[in-house]
Amino acid sequence: MSSSVRFLLNGLAETAVAAAPDMTVLRWLRLQARLTGTKEGCAEGDCGACTVALAEPGPQGLVWRPANACILLMGQIHGKLLVTVEGLADGARLHPVQEAMVARHASQCGFCTPGFVMSLFAAYRNRERPQTESIHDALAGNLCRCTGYRPIVDAARDSLGAESADRFDALEPAILEALRAIAAQPALACETPEGRFLAPRDKYELACALAADPQARILAGGTDLALEVTKRHARLPSLIALGRVAALRRVEEDARTLTLGAAAPYEDLLERLAALAPTLGVLLRRLGSRQIRALGTIGGNLANASPIGDMAPALIALEGSLRLESARGMREIALEDFFLAYRRTALEAGEFIDSVRLRKPGPSDFFDVEKISRRFDQDISAVCGAIRFESAQGVIRGARIAFGGMSATSARARHAEAALEGAPLAMASFARAAAALTQDFAPLSDHRASADHRMRTARNLFVRWGEAATRPPEAAP
Ligand SMILES: Cc1cc2nc3c(=O)[nH]c(=O)nc-3n(C[C@H](O)[C@H](O)[C@H](O)COP(=O)(O)OP(=O)(O)OC[C@H]3O[C@@H](n4cnc5c(N)ncnc54)[C@H](O)[C@@H]3O)c2cc1C
Ligand code: FES
Ligand code: FES
Repeated sequence: MSSSVRFLLNGLAETAVAAAPDMTVLRWLRLQARLTGTKEGCAEGDCGACTVALAEPGPQGLVWRPANACILLMGQIHGKLLVTVEGLADGARLHPVQEAMVARHASQCGFCTPGFVMSLFAAYRNRERPQTESIHDALAGNLCRCTGYRPIVDAARDSLGAESADRFDALEPAILEALRAIAAQPALACETPEGRFLAPRDKYELACALAADPQARILAGGTDLALEVTKRHARLPSLIALGRVAALRRVEEDARTLTLGAAAPYEDLLERLAALAPTLGVLLRRLGSRQIRALGTIGGNLANASPIGDMAPALIALEGSLRLESARGMREIALEDFFLAYRRTALEAGEFIDSVRLRKPGPSDFFDVEKISRRFDQDISAVCGAIRFESAQGVIRGARIAFGGMSATSARARHAEAALEGAPLAMASFARAAAALTQDFAPLSDHRASADHRMRTARNLFVRWGEAATRPPEAAP
């Protein structure tokens, strides 16, 4: 058993001995490694000032991802390469991304600049092309309050896709070998006076660890959990991490269903879900930022049970069911029955979510999911609505409609569903379903939206759905 967190820091082997289980990478970098180029802005994953790059072995070499060091816990980087802004230059020669930032006068307040550089560095290492949409996507998790985005976008255009090399090209074979050697070691178990961090390697070890310590908190990406430390100043004395359990990152498909491992990060699922339904791809692309999607998982989103979590409405509409496992065995539960009350789920002590299974939309199905938030990028929903139904000979069958943001949990709109069942595929049917929504929900007002705004928005979605579903194929854009 490995008792220290082992990783590569800017290409060199590093061991963090006796790091508290809830020690963030940002704190460790700034206070212990004395690498202060990585900044703290918001400490909640929003501003990107703390962006670092993580790399791990993939099928074709290293896979690079930007990550928010402020909400990343030390145990999560075991077996990974961590690159900070100090690690980019090759001796006296700046990295191509840094050179472009200088040439374009894109380096501004110095607080946000390291984060911008690191987001672009991750995109550079993944050989992304300099297309407007992907540049904006790469930078959506980095906030600049001095409105200096244009020169940064120019620097991205200059450096991405350029035929230049950086020092990680030559280092890659040695990095891969070192990371594979760490991966071959047994489970990580760090015991410190502040608590315990366990990272089992398979589901059996995971189930045993949870049975032995049912009070331990499960850690997937940490993009919800770590905020308990950084914002609420809570301590997490016992953590059991899912990141090394390969079975929980699996994706399986048959003719009717798709099964997603609970701990697969969103970035790993994006293309698959976009291919299944384009609006599901849009939903995922708008979930947090690349930094959040690099670590955040569907299992974490569902177990967190926020009424404004984005995944539940779409998955309920797609007949999602969860496979829950523990040392006692396995059970399956429909997703809509998993949410019991505000932030309360049917998960029992010692249990973990293994996977979510959904029914793939068929050729005669209509499916859509719409997230309504104040900002397009990097914002939480005020309302999120999803619908799926079949239409045969102009009649609606099997309607499933679910909303987030309209009640204490994500839930089905059963009266609206009943209004659509057996109804003709016509705008009037959608208007009746919209009217039935007041029987399904009595939303609350909060800082994101008033109750009235939520109800109007949700009803208006039926107009959008009706128009899309009744539009003749030749009129489609
Ligand atoms: C800046 C920012 C932006 C965000 N934007 C969005 C957004 O647009 N939409 C949205 O929906 N969410 C958003 N989130 C919230 C968060 O990213 C998601 O909810 C994410 O899916 C959580 O997954 P995780 O793996 O990080 O969970 P973690 O933080 O690791 O865990 C969350 C909870 O689930 C439990 N848990 C995790 N995995 C399992 C499992 N397999 N079995 C049992 N319990 C488990 C943990 O114990 C914990 O209680 C945002 C968060 C941040 C910080
Ligand atoms: S400090 Fe703002 S995202 Fe980490
Ligand atoms: S670069 Fe920091 S506010 Fe603009």
